[in-house]
Amino acid sequence: MPTLLITGANRGIGWGVARLLAERGWHVHATCRRPDRAEALQALAAAHAGRVTVHALELLDFAGIKRLGQRLEAAAIDVLFNNAGVMNMAQRRYDPALTIQDFGHTDAEDWTKVFQVNVIAPMKLAEALIEPIARSERKVIITATSVMGSIRLNKTGRWHHYRTTKAAVNQMMRGMAVELRPRGITCFPLHPGSVRTDMNFARAPLSIDESAAGIVRVIETAGPEQSGRYMMWNGEEMPW
Ligand SMILES: NC(=O)c1ccc[n+]([C@@H]2O[C@H](COP(=O)([O-])OP(=O)(O)OC[C@H]3O[C@@H](n4cnc5c(N)ncnc54)[C@H](OP(=O)(O)O)[C@@H]3O)[C@@H](O)[C@H]2O)c1
Repeated sequence: MPTLLITGANRGIGWGVARLLAERGWHVHATCRRPDRAEALQALAAAHAGRVTVHALELLDFAGIKRLGQRLEAAAIDVLFNNAGVMNMAQRRYDPALTIQDFGHTDAEDWTKVFQVNVIAPMKLAEALIEPIARSERKVIITATSVMGSIRLNKTGRWHHYRTTKAAVNQMMRGMAVELRPRGITCFPLHPGSVRTDMNFARAPLSIDESAAGIVRVIETAGPEQSGRYMMWNGEEMPW
């Protein structure tokens, strides 16, 4: 069966995708910051002993990313899904008062860290795992983006920290697709839909299970045709 490595697998969309693919027989390397607090993920690993492995990974720790790459250097990883991401560093749950990031209220330190987590860490992880990905059968790298990364669809402004990181993810994955095409590696950014998680509004239309089911279909059918495209959870494309 194929192997997935997914970041931020302890909650939200990452948890939904890790669980579904484990249930579908995939081998799953699930990363999270605090395995000791990731009860649901540990239960998943226990239920699928030998097929789900939990790794501690803080995405602000680039040396830690490198060490994970070294630990897995002999593995084959069919799909790397850079799922983990943040809207800001200050709080876990969505709070409009803290999150708006409009003109006049940007914060350079927060913005820099959000960029590190959402953009630089996915690149460093892809670099660290490139050989395990290249020797796998499917050879796919996906990074979570957002509708908020679309320049065409930006009609409201605000959320500068978050929007710019997701626009950067789009540009990065497009470039990665071009650079890694000669090695047969498929790369694309993926918008998971507007999903009811800690990050998003309670009124978002999709449940975690609905989004994860769509993402799993995209993952299981991903190939060169999707490379360099701005994909959505339901297999459709977003306008850049
Ligand atoms: N929900 C939506 O509607 C929506 C829409 C568009 C795009 N997205 C994107 O989809 C992805 C998943 O979002 P979500 O809604 O599932 O978010 P979430 O529920 O807030 O979960 C975020 C995940 O990222 C992890 N994470 C955050 N900072 C990290 C760091 N420094 N190092 C390692 N892990 C870190 C969190 O771990 P901890 O538990 O340790 O904090 C958690 O597992 C994100 O990239 C997000 O931008 C979501």
